[in-house]
Amino acid sequence: MHKTLSRRLMAGLAAAMAVGAGLGLSLGGAAAAYPERPITMIVPFAAGGPTDVIARIVAENMSKTLGQQIIVENVAGAGGTTGSTRAAQAAPDGYTLVMGHMGTHGAAPALYPNLKYDPAKDFAPVGLAAGTPILIVAKKDFPAKDLKEFVAYVKANADKVNQAHAGVGSVSHSTCTLLDAQLGIKPTLVPYGGTGPALNDLVSGQVDFMCDQIVNLVPQIQAGTIKAYAVATPERSPSLPNVPTTKEAGLPDYQVSAWNAIFAPKGTPQDIIAKLNNALVVALDDESTRKRLLDLGGVIADKPGRSPQALNDLVVSEVARWTPVLKGANSK
Ligand code: MLT
Repeated sequence: MHKTLSRRLMAGLAAAMAVGAGLGLSLGGAAAAYPERPITMIVPFAAGGPTDVIARIVAENMSKTLGQQIIVENVAGAGGTTGSTRAAQAAPDGYTLVMGHMGTHGAAPALYPNLKYDPAKDFAPVGLAAGTPILIVAKKDFPAKDLKEFVAYVKANADKVNQAHAGVGSVSHSTCTLLDAQLGIKPTLVPYGGTGPALNDLVSGQVDFMCDQIVNLVPQIQAGTIKAYAVATPERSPSLPNVPTTKEAGLPDYQVSAWNAIFAPKGTPQDIIAKLNNALVVALDDESTRKRLLDLGGVIADKPGRSPQALNDLVVSEVARWTPVLKGANSK
């Protein structure tokens, strides 16, 4: 995933530089005084999940650079599309942002025929906050000691097992939809307002398994309160060196990863976007912010990969990638 993500991000470099030059990203006009009051960053999921964790880490440092606080507001519902719709429809003045992700800005169009926003057209991309490998995890007494046993067990007991997710179109839902399609299973799906609350129920054994972004899981895996069967990226995560890749563990075709990124509403002045992007870039270069993200298994893009244009290119390619995958998986 690291290679795929960085390849995609690198691909945006040339275009980003051209667009940046063309737009004349000066700090005159609307951005001269911006920001004059606190900024709201919508997290379209419940508190305590990966989107929330990444948003709070990044927002803390961006607030210092911007000289105004970024207040995180959790607006959960409909797999993140409720909060994302609110952001798309907010005034394009730089005071409302959303921490979107691979689900809200990649998978959702395939699953919501009446989605009220177009991820590629109704937002002004600010920049990529973190890449997030996906793990297959289960409650700690789930009767399978490794991924091969997990696969055999869920195939044999598909009518009994249940799978948590953060709403249709969320990362946990989309990535596990892909897993279920590959395994040919239809477990009982248990929706939550985010994988923060879903993880609580996994720890207490109310649900059996889920696919989730690494940043939510590292502390629980390290504490032994849940089981991690595999990380679905080509390489192991430095944060979880003992967790095998899906390839190592016998499910080589299950390769999937996610990302989280900041978006403003379409029409937000370019000089404000430039100021926000600069604050994001500063945050991702800050030693303590980087450490917090990296310790949780987050992947930080190189500088070119953090540009608004690189994020725009990522959204376009993710919608194109996920639409056939999810339509195909759901028709099985
Ligand atoms: C997801 O599954 O999309 C996320 O994990 C949601 C969240 O941040 O809770």
